[in-house]
Amino acid sequence: MSRPLDGKVAVVTGASRGIGLAAAAALRDQGAQVVVTSRSEERAKEAAAELGEGVVGFGAHATDEDAARACVDFVIGTYGRLDILVNNAGTNPAYGPVIDQDHGRFIKTMDVNLWAPILWTSLAVKAWMGEHGGSVVNTASIGGYSVAADFGIYHVSKAALIHLTKQLALELAPKVRVNAIAPGVVRTKLAEALWQEHEAKVAEATPLGRIGEPEDIGEAIAFLAGGAGARWITGETLIVDGGQLLGPGAV
Ligand SMILES: NC(=O)c1ccc[n+]([C@@H]2O[C@H](COP(=O)([O-])OP(=O)(O)OC[C@H]3O[C@@H](n4cnc5c(N)ncnc54)[C@H](OP(=O)(O)O)[C@@H]3O)[C@@H](O)[C@H]2O)c1
Repeated sequence: MSRPLDGKVAVVTGASRGIGLAAAAALRDQGAQVVVTSRSEERAKEAAAELGEGVVGFGAHATDEDAARACVDFVIGTYGRLDILVNNAGTNPAYGPVIDQDHGRFIKTMDVNLWAPILWTSLAVKAWMGEHGGSVVNTASIGGYSVAADFGIYHVSKAALIHLTKQLALELAPKVRVNAIAPGVVRTKLAEALWQEHEAKVAEATPLGRIGEPEDIGEAIAFLAGGAGARWITGETLIVDGGQLLGPGAV
């Protein structure tokens, strides 16, 4: 039986665990050959081994231009194409009020969350997608649509990523579709502070009654990346949050 992504090749940045790992699994299950990245070559390879056939690991810090170029060169050299790029690596070192942040934490957040998607998209488009077509999915956040104490810099970076998604979609059409996913609170290491100590409370405040699992987001990423129903979607950010942005509901 044919699968929607048979013959396609995908790169998922920041995929040694969490949402990236789940996205890699979903893309692989739909037929794609997948390359997963991590800051550590070892963790990338471990993640690939965990997913098994059709997935390989590559060590590349998302903001390291030489490493990103080496990864894209590896993909083109090995598989001869690069159809799907998931810019998933993200970070949040700048916890606390915005006015208490320093330049270093600001730069690190913006570098990983905003510059890396530009860098990897540029490399993928110039190496393959610009001529042959392709699809990019950026991992934003519902934080890009809201304000909350202590997450200001991170939310600003994700709001900018949502805007960047539209900008790139316009610049790269018609060959390349560019979309984003905006997850709510998902059971991952990055978001532990948001759910670990009070999961029942978060679930109660979520209209669909539970926090997100990485697979909830991974499968939506695979849909945007290449699912048949997404072929005329570009510049869009898909919110996948169990209704968290709607609020706890009218009672
Ligand atoms: N979880 C949530 O509730 C939630 C909600 C909204 C948005 N998001 C977004 O979802 C994305 C994935 O986060 P997650 O929740 O799945 O977090 P996670 O479980 O902590 O995973 C983050 C992944 O990114 C990798 N990574 C981190 N910094 C990197 C860098 N500079 N270069 C390359 N890889 C890097 C990590 O691998 P190594 O440590 O091995 O390098 C890991 O595989 C992020 O963009 C995050 O902002 C998460």
